[in-house]
Amino acid sequence: MKIYKIAVIPGDGIGTEVVTEGVKVLERVAELDGRFRFEFTWFPWGCEYYHKHGVMMDEDGIDRLREFDAIFLGAVGSPDVPDHISLRGLLLRIRQGFDQYVNLRPVKLLKGAPCPLAGVAREDIDMMVIRENSEGEYSGMGDWLFRGKENEVVLQTGVFSRKGVERIIRYAYEMAHRENKTLTSVSKSNALNYSMVFWDQVFAEVGKEYPDVKTQVVNVDAAALFFVKQPQKFQVVVTSNLFGDILTDLGAAIAGGMGLAAGANLNPERKFPSMFEPIHGSAPDIMGKGIANPLASVWSASQMLDFFGYEEWGAKVLGAVEDLMVDGSVLSPDMGGTATTREVGDAVVRRLEAMA
Ligand code: NAD
Ligand code: IPM
Ligand code: MN
Repeated sequence: MKIYKIAVIPGDGIGTEVVTEGVKVLERVAELDGRFRFEFTWFPWGCEYYHKHGVMMDEDGIDRLREFDAIFLGAVGSPDVPDHISLRGLLLRIRQGFDQYVNLRPVKLLKGAPCPLAGVAREDIDMMVIRENSEGEYSGMGDWLFRGKENEVVLQTGVFSRKGVERIIRYAYEMAHRENKTLTSVSKSNALNYSMVFWDQVFAEVGKEYPDVKTQVVNVDAAALFFVKQPQKFQVVVTSNLFGDILTDLGAAIAGGMGLAAGANLNPERKFPSMFEPIHGSAPDIMGKGIANPLASVWSASQMLDFFGYEEWGAKVLGAVEDLMVDGSVLSPDMGGTATTREVGDAVVRRLEAMA
C-alpha cells in the first residue's frame, strides 16, 4: 500500500480548528479508497511555540520537513506576536525554503456557495489564479536607515528575476494551453516601471511559444474592478506575489467567502514538499469558539489529493462540499448556518461515505 507522509502544522487561532477537519477528510478518503493511506506527523510550531522557545519553528525545521510528501497547514499569526516575525518565521520560510513558487488559488463559485454579486451566473466565476510565490514584492529584501531619525528612510525591494518570472508565466501558459482557456496577466507597468515592464516583456516573449493561447494584459486596479463587475473575463490568471495575495481575497469574497477559499503552494518539480492550506488567516476575532468554517481547509485537502494523482477523489471531495452547501442544513455561521466546525467536517465525511 502506498503511504504518504504528511507534515501537519496547525499553527494558530482557527488554523488549529480547521486543520483537524481537513485531516479527518483525508483519512476517510484513504480508508474508502483502500489503495493508499496517510501518515500524519503533527508539528507544534506557531506563536505559542514562539513564546516558549523564541522561534516560530525549530532551527532544523526545514530539514525535518524535507522528508515529507506534503505539508498541510492551518494558519499562522496571533495578535501578541508581530506579524512580520510570525509569518516570516514560519509560513513564508516554508514557501521560500522549498521553492514553492506556484501558488494555485481557485476562484470558482461552487454550487450552493453564497455570492454577493447580483446578476452573476455560477459559471461566470470560474478562474484559477496563479500567484508567483517565491520572490517579487515578498523577497524580504530592503533596508531601514537612520531609524527613528528625522531623515529615516525605508526600502522594500521587489525582486523579479528572469528565472522567477519566466517559470511562473510558463506554468500559466502551460495550464491555459492544456485546458484550452484564456490567460490574463495582471500587471501594473504604468506605475512600476521596472518590475512590471519586465513582467510584461517576459509574458509576451513566452507567449510566442503558445500561439494558440488567447491572452490579455490587465492592470491590477482594473482587474479588481472586473473581478466584481465582469468576473467572466477571467479564466487562467497569472500575477505577482502581492497582487495575487490581494486579488485572491477579493476572489474569496465573490466566490463563497474566506471560509471557502483554498490554495496550494507547489514546487512543481517535486524536488521539495508542496504545502496545502486555506488562504485565510488565524481569524483572532472568532478563534476558540468552534465556529470557523473548515471548508477552505477541506478544499485544500482536495488539492492535495489532485497533486498526488487522485483527481477523482479531489473531485469527490469538492462534490461533497457542493452537496453540503446546496443542502444548506449543516453550515457554519459565515455561510448563514449554525453548525460548528466539527459538525461541518463530519457532514463532509458522511457525504463522501454516501458517494462511495
Ligand atoms: P483572516 O483571514 O484571519 O480573517 C479575515 C476575516 O475573515 C475575519 O473576520 C475572520 O473571522 C474571517 N474568516 C477567515 N477565515 C474564516 C473561516 N474559516 N471561517 C469563518 N470566518 C473566517 O485575516 P486577518 O484578520 O487579516 O489576519 C489574522 C491573522 O492571520 C494575522 O496575523 C495575519 O497575518 C494572519 N494570516 C495568516 C495567513 C496564513 O497563515 N496563511 C493568511 C492570512 C492572514
Ligand atoms: C496569504 C497570507 C500571507 C501572504 C501572509 C499571512 C504573509 O495573506 O497566504 O494569503 O500574504 O501570502
Ligand atoms: Mn492573503
